Amino acid sequence: MEIQKFSHSATALAHPNIAFIKYWGNRDDALRLPANGSISMNLEGLDTRTRVHFDGSLRLDELQIDGVPTGGESLERVKRVLDEVRRLAVMQVFATVDSQNNFPLGVGIASSASGFAALALSASGAVGIDMDESSLSRLARLGSGSACRSIPGGFVEWVTGTGDLDSFAASIAPQGYWDLQDCIVLLSSEPKTIGSSLGNKLAGTSPFQASRVADTPRRLSICRKSILDRDFNAFATIVEEDSNLMHSVMRTSCPPLFYWLPESLTVMQAVRVARAAGLHACYTIDAGPNVHIICEALVSGDVVKLVENLPGVREVRLAKAGGPARLVDNSAQA
Ligand code: DP6
Repeated sequence: MEIQKFSHSATALAHPNIAFIKYWGNRDDALRLPANGSISMNLEGLDTRTRVHFDGSLRLDELQIDGVPTGGESLERVKRVLDEVRRLAVMQVFATVDSQNNFPLGVGIASSASGFAALALSASGAVGIDMDESSLSRLARLGSGSACRSIPGGFVEWVTGTGDLDSFAASIAPQGYWDLQDCIVLLSSEPKTIGSSLGNKLAGTSPFQASRVADTPRRLSICRKSILDRDFNAFATIVEEDSNLMHSVMRTSCPPLFYWLPESLTVMQAVRVARAAGLHACYTIDAGPNVHIICEALVSGDVVKLVENLPGVREVRLAKAGGPARLVDNSAQA
C-alpha cells in the first residue's frame, strides 16, 4: 500500500492507579527500569480514552490532551512509545494522538499512568500488532513507569525484571477480589514544582534510597500477602510505612522535595487516630500534596465524614478497584 494512503486507528481506555508499595527511582532512566518493585490498584471511574490514528499524509506526530495541542516533553514521551510501535510493526508512519481524561488534570490525580497505558494499547491496536499483556505493559512503561501497572486489571505488581524485556506488571488479584476504595482527598490544584520524572532521577541522591530499595522485597511480600488474605491491619501498616519511606527519600534528595502541605499531615493524623479507634482506613501520598485514603468500601462514608471539613480539603473523590486497559473502538481500516 502507498504510504500516503496508510490510515489505521484505534481507541483505548485505561484507568490511573494508586501505588501501595511505591516506585521511586530508576536503575535506568531512559528505559524506566525501576530501582524496586511496586504494587498498586487501578482506579475505577477515572478514565483516559486515547485515540491513535496512524496517517500516511502526516509529516510529524501530533498530540492533543483534552483538546489542547501539546508539545514539549509530553510529546517527546508519546513519541518514545510510538517509535517503539513503529519499530515493532516495521513501518514509518506518523500519528495523531488524541487523549481525553474524564477527570480534570489540575486536580492532582496523575494522568500519566492511564495516559500511557491507553496510548500503548491504542497505538499497537491501530497497526494490528499482536501483543500480549506483558508486552503491552512493557511498552507503556517506556512512556511512564507507573503506566505499566495500568495495563493489567485490579491489584497489580510490577516486577523489576532483569532488563527491558522482563520489567512489566501483572495482576496479583482481580478487580473484585477485595472491596477496597480510594478516597482521594484533594487539597491543592497548584501544579507540581518537580514532577515524578525528575523526582525519580533525584531519588539516588538521598542517602536513604539504598536502604529503602534493599528493604522493598520485604514490604512487597507483606503487602501482597495482606491483599491475598484481605488482612486490612497488615495492609494498612505496610502501606503507610512505604509511603513514609518514599517521602523520607524525597525530603532528603538533592535538591530536597517536599510534597506534603501542612493540611496533608492533618489528614494523615486524622486517619491514624480513626484507625486506632477501629476504622479500616490508611493513607498513602504520591508526588503531590493530596492524600489517598484507602479503606474498605463499607466505611468510605465514614472516611468522607472524617475528612471533608478538615482545613484545606476541597473535595473527596471515591474510586474502587478498576479493570484492565481495553480497546473501546478498533476501527483500523486498510
Ligand atoms: C510517586 O510513573 O509518574 O506516583 O516514569 O517518570 O512517569 P515516570 O514516573 P511516574 O512515577 C510514579 C511515582 C509515584 C509512585 C508510584 O506510582 O509508584
